[in-house]
Amino acid sequence: MKELEAKILQADTLEALEKVRVELFGKKGVLAVEFAKMKDVPGPEKKAFAEGLNTTKTFLQESFDARYETLKSEAIHAALKSEAIDVSLYGEFAQKGALHPVMQTMDKIIDYFVALNFAVQSGPMVEDDFHNFEALNLPKHHPARDMQDTFYFKDGGLLRTHTSPVQIRTMMQTKPPIRMIAPGTVFRRDYDITHTPMFHQVEGLVVDAKGKVSFANLKSILTDFLQYMFGEVEVRFRPSFFPFTEPSAEVDISCIFCQGEGCRVCSHTGWLEVLGCGIVDPNVFKAVGYEEVSGYAFGLGVERFAMLMHKIPDLRSLFEGDIRLLEQFR
Ligand code: PHE
Repeated sequence: MKELEAKILQADTLEALEKVRVELFGKKGVLAVEFAKMKDVPGPEKKAFAEGLNTTKTFLQESFDARYETLKSEAIHAALKSEAIDVSLYGEFAQKGALHPVMQTMDKIIDYFVALNFAVQSGPMVEDDFHNFEALNLPKHHPARDMQDTFYFKDGGLLRTHTSPVQIRTMMQTKPPIRMIAPGTVFRRDYDITHTPMFHQVEGLVVDAKGKVSFANLKSILTDFLQYMFGEVEVRFRPSFFPFTEPSAEVDISCIFCQGEGCRVCSHTGWLEVLGCGIVDPNVFKAVGYEEVSGYAFGLGVERFAMLMHKIPDLRSLFEGDIRLLEQFR
């Protein structure tokens, strides 16, 4: 029996132990052979013989079970150890991307107006003459169309030259009151240090019952907005012209480079022009079928804001995809 127990204790893997199991407890195993001898044992001795054998069997079974548990838990520990991951090790650093500076600027602008309950609207970049010009009080052959050099398609479609067509689309789809902004991509045939053929605008439009929306409202919200964007600047409204607003104004901030002293960036005027705005022209309301309403609108170029806020000298550099420039805005 000691010999048999030794076999169990010497098995040092689960596979080896399984072999021992077959050898001892299998159908043709050592125990089976011993039990088979029962029939040859004379009657009076049978009982003692059987008892002895059963004691042996129980003893071997118990030591087998104990050995099995030991080997099994050793196997589990070995697996856990070899498969373990050291979470404290340094990994390889993946370079994370970042929003383009123009989009960061756009988000900052959007945040301001969303906080004031403006809805964010959008429209197609490929527009038609009606939404981009006609409905905005820019009839065919109107000289003001020259203000916006347009990319045309052969079928008469065009790439929108401003986000103002989204005003028209929104008004034609919803009833007043309206309080919206329209951030978006626009296109013009222009290319120099302050113009790229593709750029971005944020449009704003507020419409309510007649007499409810005034130039004073427009002035106060834009003044606050520009100080949110640029800090403690002075804001000035200068009479101007847009076909879709009357009266119209262009808005300047005191130069953030020279604090109004006069420098190269502000062409020694002390002022930087940053947006266009005005009271919505009655012809625009007529085109969309609105009656008895009043409203204001404004539009700004996001790249111009980004250039001023980050002191970027050449607008074109924003779109060259130069990682050395973009990484500075991470
Ligand atoms: N759409 C004008 C432009 O692109 C900007 C603007 C919008 C002016 C709304 C007044 C009112 O220049």
